[in-house]
Amino acid sequence: MTAAESVRIAMFSTKSYEKPRFAALVPDNMSVTYQEARLTTKTTSLAVGHDVVCCFTHDQVDAQAIASLADAGIRLIALRSAGFNNVDLRAAENHGIPVVRVPAYSPFAVAEHAMALVLCLNRKIHKAHNRVRELNFSLEGLEGFDLHGKTFGIVGTGEIGEKMARIAHGFGCRVIAYSKEKSQELMKEGWVEYVDFDRVLRESDVLSLHVPLTPETDHLLDAQAFERIKPGAMLINTGRGALIDASALVTALKKGQIGSAGLDVYEEEEGVFFEDLSDKVLQDDVLARLLTFNNVLITSHQAFLTREALDNIASTTVDNIRAFFESGETRNAVTSDANMKQ
Ligand code: NAI
Repeated sequence: MTAAESVRIAMFSTKSYEKPRFAALVPDNMSVTYQEARLTTKTTSLAVGHDVVCCFTHDQVDAQAIASLADAGIRLIALRSAGFNNVDLRAAENHGIPVVRVPAYSPFAVAEHAMALVLCLNRKIHKAHNRVRELNFSLEGLEGFDLHGKTFGIVGTGEIGEKMARIAHGFGCRVIAYSKEKSQELMKEGWVEYVDFDRVLRESDVLSLHVPLTPETDHLLDAQAFERIKPGAMLINTGRGALIDASALVTALKKGQIGSAGLDVYEEEEGVFFEDLSDKVLQDDVLARLLTFNNVLITSHQAFLTREALDNIASTTVDNIRAFFESGETRNAVTSDANMKQ
């Protein structure tokens, strides 16, 4: 990229909190068209006249969309997310369009949000808040439990799970974990016990999911897993929705196998989470059912949403794009042989 050349970026799914961050960072030889629309096969025409499409988690970068992007002359797909399960990487490779991402923007943001869900659910803060606003100062039904001394199970001790372990340890929990790769640091420190999947299910009072979505982890928690889980356990998911079979979760909640659930992600969240549907009719019956449980707390994929994470997303994305156009370097690239669906 020379000073004379300019790089034109079509940013999809842009939110108000992103625009000023990118505007402050893009150099003079880059221009950004901020689109609120999601990238789908129907909106690829918005990329015409640009060199880069910049996408987030709900943009549908499937084979058909990629073919249209290739026709439009798109040279780079720059994800503003760590996860890339919404991108057909093989199709991108077939069209010679590299895909780059932001591998870790703030593991603290996600782990802290997971703990916020635990605390809110356990001490019923959401109910208490509504109650006192109606001048109902009764404590009936607000009983929680001490986290201190409870067993906190973590599935996946990568960037986020490792932070989760430290937070749970800080609360005085016994921390157990099931993870494909073990954290060398946690192993050295010695206070996390690595166990198999069955034990993490059977022993955890609180179970928090931090694995990527892969063919292997798709519906990791299904009806069979719910049968093995410690009765009344609290389940937290800030990973990806499809780690849990949502219909099986509804059944497990009805039976009381699951005591409570804090969900930041949902398997059919696309087109629902991040959107204001307050004047619409919710079409998803499983989500509608989940919303009726008073022991289920749902947030709309907001675990990442901290100032620090948003700043990191913007700066890494701009750096990724700059590196590609200045030197051809595909920094933070993801390829289909990563064999991962995050
Ligand atoms: P990471 O790649 O650092 O860690 C993932 C861990 O899962 C690794 O320790 C790995 O060994 C383990 N793992 C992978 N497959 C496994 C399997 N089949 N069984 C057991 N363990 C397995 O990823 P990181 O950064 O900790 O993120 C985890 C996930 O969190 C992401 O993949 C993404 O889906 C989700 N996420 C959610 C966000 C939100 O806003 N709710 C924001 C960012 C990430």
